[in-house]
Amino acid sequence: AAIIARVEEILDAHQGMEGPLLPILHAIQEAFGHVPQASLPLIAQNLNLSRAEVHGVMSFYHDFREAPAGRHVLKLCRAEACQSMGADRVADHARKALGIEWHETTKDGAVTLEPVFCLGLCACAPAAMVDGRVVGRVDEARLDSLLEEVR
Ligand code: FES
Repeated sequence: AAIIARVEEILDAHQGMEGPLLPILHAIQEAFGHVPQASLPLIAQNLNLSRAEVHGVMSFYHDFREAPAGRHVLKLCRAEACQSMGADRVADHARKALGIEWHETTKDGAVTLEPVFCLGLCACAPAAMVDGRVVGRVDEARLDSLLEEVR
């Protein structure tokens, strides 16, 4: 019920705005740390969209989480400059080391793995972000020590 009340407040605050869906989703994620399932029908109804449309936008932009994050969030850059410097290998390594896929959280709740598309650190590719801190030149060994730090 608390979720619904807060979501309704957010929807009210965006009433009459043009292109409100993304700002609404951002505001909800900021309020809860993720976009709760329960908010989707409210948003859809408010904006006259189907739930599938809201969900489609959420998954198109990789910024939105459907479930609460773990204690730490590891974002790995998936954009071109990083790809060309071996980001795929690092990503494979991360998924294996953590035993999770993109957007998932380890069972102990320690780490959530998320893709991100350019961290503005292309000159130091491949780039990563750990709890909001950007890190460059991330190879497998560097990644292991980052993971050690947070676990
Ligand atoms: Fe990865 Fe820009 S492409 S930081």
